[in-house]
Amino acid sequence: MSEATSAAERELWSRRSRSFGGRAAEYARHRPDYPLDALRWALPPGATRVVDLAAGTGKLTDGLLALDVEVTAVEPDAQMRAEFGRHHPDVPILDGTAERIPLPGAAADAVLVGQAFHWFDVGAALTEIARVLRPGGTVAGLWNGNDESVPWVAEFARISGFTQRGSSVAKLTEHPAFGPFAERTFRHTHRRTPESLVETIATHSHLLVADKEERARTRTRVLEFLTTNPATAGGEFDVPLLTTVLRGERR
Ligand SMILES: C[S@@+](CC[C@H](N)C(=O)[O-])C[C@H]1O[C@@H](n2cnc3c(N)ncnc32)[C@H](O)[C@@H]1O
Repeated sequence: MSEATSAAERELWSRRSRSFGGRAAEYARHRPDYPLDALRWALPPGATRVVDLAAGTGKLTDGLLALDVEVTAVEPDAQMRAEFGRHHPDVPILDGTAERIPLPGAAADAVLVGQAFHWFDVGAALTEIARVLRPGGTVAGLWNGNDESVPWVAEFARISGFTQRGSSVAKLTEHPAFGPFAERTFRHTHRRTPESLVETIATHSHLLVADKEERARTRTRVLEFLTTNPATAGGEFDVPLLTTVLRGERR
């Protein structure tokens, strides 16, 4: 957040960053995973020890395990950690934050962050991530966003209030411990129905902290759109996603 933001905005921001745990099971069921190509690009060659930071229910860990690396997860929310444990009983998950990672120095080849860097105190987090990375290790932030170049997706994003972020991503690009950050975008899809896409929207923080009436109004509006829009009305469909990755290398 910028220094110019008010106390009320900061309070809302903080509440949103802590809003996911109350709907952890729904989060696990309805949020997309990440494309394996994006994860491969985020990792340094030969990586074996990878931290999934702000791991939530383990969406990113799913992909890391498919790449056969050793994962340690870090997540501050107890309900998200419990849900993670239900999906990945064999992966260690530690109580910690990006600004205070409970790992020794140089313990990791890579630290990956799915859909969460924008909740961090970015400067403090990058300093802490630099501490736990070995030289040449990588940090990467990944974000799944709707591909709004597709007309129905742009309309859906407008109606649901879930549009692409930008400035929070840009803040990742400078830190003395890291070389210049590189960015790449990967195509991805999320198989949904009108009803399950409404459930996905309901796990986004702006709706998790909204009052009951606003949540109900948004759900009704989005369902009405999805059940009448020709691209989505007929049952199952793929939501086109673009996964943006920002990758930096520890000096
Ligand atoms: C949108 S969820 C993303 C979860 C998971 N990485 C994924 O890709 O689905 C954001 C997560 O960031 C966590 N979080 C919020 N603030 C954090 C912080 N300062 N340090 C670490 N995790 C944080 C939340 O508890 C939540 O689990």
